[in-house]
Amino acid sequence: MTPVILSGGSGTRLWPLSREAYPKQFINLVSDNSLLGDTVERVETLGDIQHLIVVSNEDHRFMVAGCLQTHHNLERSSIILEPVGRNTAPAIALAALKAMDVNADAVLLIMPADHVIVDNAKFSEAVLKGKKAAMEGKLATFGIVPDSPHTGYGYIQSGKQQGDWADVDHFVEKPDEETAKKYISSGDYYWNSGMFMFRADRYLEELEKFNPEMVSVCKRALEKSADDLDFIRVDPETFATSPDDSIDYAVMEKTDSAVVVPLDAGWSDVGSWSALWDIHQQDKHGNVCKGDVITEDVNNSYIHSESRLVAAIGVDNYVIVETDDVILVADKSRVQDVKKLVAQVKEQG
Ligand code: GDD
Ligand code: MG
Repeated sequence: MTPVILSGGSGTRLWPLSREAYPKQFINLVSDNSLLGDTVERVETLGDIQHLIVVSNEDHRFMVAGCLQTHHNLERSSIILEPVGRNTAPAIALAALKAMDVNADAVLLIMPADHVIVDNAKFSEAVLKGKKAAMEGKLATFGIVPDSPHTGYGYIQSGKQQGDWADVDHFVEKPDEETAKKYISSGDYYWNSGMFMFRADRYLEELEKFNPEMVSVCKRALEKSADDLDFIRVDPETFATSPDDSIDYAVMEKTDSAVVVPLDAGWSDVGSWSALWDIHQQDKHGNVCKGDVITEDVNNSYIHSESRLVAAIGVDNYVIVETDDVILVADKSRVQDVKKLVAQVKEQG
């Protein structure tokens, strides 16, 4: 199979640690490795890898290459560089086209660069099932049992069970809160993990049905690409004309071939400071403290110090993150709004 690691996001909600120039996939947030490094290692444990593809923003090329050098000992890898982000649907189209250059029957395993999976053995089991579905021409997603009406996820209503997977009756990307609540109480929805498996040719076939323009732009951008050392630089003028869309809206909501493989492997997309608090071992007061931190009567809080001593007294449910140039103090229930602060910072230049 051909794993494809998507590394184009900027991880805005983990500001001020995650920055545009140094986004969350390159940071050691949960282990001694960066999230991208952990993802590459996870892929390696799967075995059966003919070709690894990373699709990344051009600005991050050296961080990606450095990471592959450290973690990766497979024979063939390609780093496809996008001059601008056009979201995941074209990024995956570029990877599908490149994979088929090497192997016309390539089965892709799409993985975001910035997720955490605790149980690699269970993940490998799910991947084997996904691969079987992919070989039958299906577009497989990995479904997570939801525990809240999160509005930042895709929701999958599963239909008829087909052995290792189930048909997808309904795929809804990022519903509003009211709809998400209905889905949760109905009990027959999964969250979309953002990981997928399909044959490269089947993805392109489906994308062609719904957005032929995107496929033709990606083909041209790749044909005119410049190969430079380890990097494949897609043609900037051509790629800039690609429609901007995610795989979820462009393909998964529309296709009749979607199936869902359940995944119960301690998955988290580490989408916010509270998600990070969740996945860490908390102390007896429910706190997660990183770096030089002292507390008195502090509960259920995430406190992260990069360079100075951070001291807190008598607060509950706080997120405090200290870096060289920024101190973030937030109520833990409001961490989704960090992106609003980032927008303000950008406005102020
Ligand atoms: N190369 C590349 N180029 N990668 C990209 C681009 C791009 O233009 N845009 C996003 N990515 C990468 C991100 O780095 C991330 O790893 C992954 O693709 C998914 O993009 P997000 O922007 O994080 O998507 P999302 O979180 O809003 O939603 C997706 O993930 C959820 C689970 O975390 C969807 O698939 C949802 O349905 C899903 O529930
Ligand atoms: Mg995400």
